[in-house]
Amino acid sequence: MATSVLALVGSLRQESKNKELAELARDLAPEGVSVSLFEGLDELPFHNEDIDGDQVAEAVTRLRTAVADADAVLVVTPEYNGTIPAVLKNAIDWASRPFGNGSLTDKPVAVIGASLGRFGGKWSHDDTRKAVGIAGARVVEDVEVGLQSSTYDRAAEDEQVVDKVRGALTRLVDFSGVPA
Ligand code: FNR
Repeated sequence: MATSVLALVGSLRQESKNKELAELARDLAPEGVSVSLFEGLDELPFHNEDIDGDQVAEAVTRLRTAVADADAVLVVTPEYNGTIPAVLKNAIDWASRPFGNGSLTDKPVAVIGASLGRFGGKWSHDDTRKAVGIAGARVVEDVEVGLQSSTYDRAAEDEQVVDKVRGALTRLVDFSGVPA
């Protein structure tokens, strides 16, 4: 059985270095593993319990279905002001509900990313792991990839970046335990 990995990218920027890393993970995926990037995090309304009932926005259903259908989730995110970008936190909030039964429940999740700061977005990654863990995900705590984006040009052409992204993906797939 193939392992499907859903990538959630915490930057909406056209030329996002994090989107580039998610695309690299997709391109590096070995046989039997597929990585797809979720499109449209900016179409999610801000989470509000008043609009989180039997009927939810189409983008919310799309997110929840994509997360539920994936064997594992790879979050690829920068750091904004020392923490998680709002668009990503909003997606985590939607995927965390209904409480105790959200699409993130028991989902294997690894967090990687690139930021300008020299710690590569460590605070954002720590906070993302905390948030998805509280949401019920099984967090791959030993994947820690925080790249300083100014230290490389094109991700796919940098051997160290390729190795780190491949390593994170391999660990996430192993952790998820889907038989090959
Ligand atoms: C940033 N950036 C940033 N970088 C960092 O290392 N620590 C931080 O706290 C912040 N804070 C921050 C806030 C806001 C609002 C922006 C827009 C940016 C810089 C950030 O790491 C850089 O822009 C990344 O390149 C963004 O990722 P993408 O868009 O290239 O994927």
